[in-house]
Amino acid sequence: MTDVVTDPLTTLAASFPSDFVFGAATAAYQIEGAIAEDGRTPSIWDTFAAQPGRVVNGDTGEVAVDHYHRMPSDVELMSDLGLGAYRFSISWPRVQPGGSGPVNAPGLAFYDRLVDTLLDRGIAPWATLYHWDLPLELEQAGGWPERDTAARFAEYAGTVAEALGDRLHGLITLNEPWCSAFLGYGNGIHAPGRTDGAASLAAAHHLLLGHGLAAQAIRAASPTTPLGITLNLYPTSPALPEGYDGPDRAAYDDAVRRVDGISNRWFLDPVFGRGYPADVVEDVRTTSALEFVQDGDTDVIAAPLDFLGINYYTRHMVAPGAYPGTASVEFRKRGLPTTAMGWEVDPQGLYDVLRRVHDDYPETPIYVTENGAAYDDVVSVGGQVHDPERVAYLQGHLEAMARLAADGVPVAGYFAWSLMDNFEWAEGYAKRFGLVHVDYATQARTPKDSAHWYSALLAAHRDGI
Ligand code: NOJ
Repeated sequence: MTDVVTDPLTTLAASFPSDFVFGAATAAYQIEGAIAEDGRTPSIWDTFAAQPGRVVNGDTGEVAVDHYHRMPSDVELMSDLGLGAYRFSISWPRVQPGGSGPVNAPGLAFYDRLVDTLLDRGIAPWATLYHWDLPLELEQAGGWPERDTAARFAEYAGTVAEALGDRLHGLITLNEPWCSAFLGYGNGIHAPGRTDGAASLAAAHHLLLGHGLAAQAIRAASPTTPLGITLNLYPTSPALPEGYDGPDRAAYDDAVRRVDGISNRWFLDPVFGRGYPADVVEDVRTTSALEFVQDGDTDVIAAPLDFLGINYYTRHMVAPGAYPGTASVEFRKRGLPTTAMGWEVDPQGLYDVLRRVHDDYPETPIYVTENGAAYDDVVSVGGQVHDPERVAYLQGHLEAMARLAADGVPVAGYFAWSLMDNFEWAEGYAKRFGLVHVDYATQARTPKDSAHWYSALLAAHRDGI
């Protein structure tokens, strides 16, 4: 009898179902550049990034990684890596400049070519309709705090579904509406940079309403396109030792309830047909009476979905804030290794948050539509990029996915963030999330060790099928 020796990569690959989707993700404003070409008009990120002090080093998406011009060779790179799927986003102001009115044919043609090029290479195209680049004109008309923006979004969604829906393997309405609402309109860290708590809650509602209306428009235009939404969810835990039961335990539990409420349940509950959670409605009452929620809205938001997309990066560890009797909450660290973003590496958090969604909400296939890490990568003298920390990050999180699959959680796919280094929003180009390194002076692409590792995993998975 011979012993069968399997290496860890093969073992990991074998722990995923044969139809499991392995891909990588990007977003339009972060990679495309070409901001004024072929009829594209500005989005809120163009004007926000142009304002001094908004983005580290004054970086903008004007050129980004020039993907708009390099799309065919970028798809070739994906094919070389053996990606099974690619998640990209569609720039609304490219397809429908100004956010209303007729379609801009050259803008739409870019995505049409992208989809066909991917399919030619055997890569499944997954599109996100809104990854934060709201047409500037819509912001000038009030932005997401205005109800009409939801209707505009649905119109755009229907147009894209009609044009591309038959070829898409997944269509995601919104990417991380929590960020669009609370970073965009609440603390102003993201475009459009407004700081108005009541407006941020109105934005969150109109994003969700836009999602529901878009779902209707997509179903009407392309009934068979698999449809979902991507939420950034955070497992939320008390910053206390395991099993702690001191007198302040209740205050910690309440901090957890609040943060979980506004980060997770505020989006999950309405999307899954439960309306807004009553305790969080109470929490936000001093900021807004939610007068913008109209009869029937929660039914629209609860549109049936084919899958849920989850983006996961880290866990929230919370404690009651320094002011007893107030709603303040503190976010703590545990001293775990962190990425260049300062986020603690916590693969168990991915397990916990997906398990929780599975346990607490109706059964829906789950795709991790983003997971990854920024590190300060450098190209070595030999021309390679050694990023052992990113390899370990990916491995740890994929092992968590494998455990979820084994435990019966319907995990159907995983998209690494990101295919290549790109414009990391308020952090500009300083933070590198790519599997592929980009030299911003020359636009040279160099697959990092993590890209080779991921590629080998995908090959082992294909071989095992
Ligand atoms: C989530 C966002 O969707 C993506 O655009 C961003 O680059 C990553 N998180 C990393 O911060």
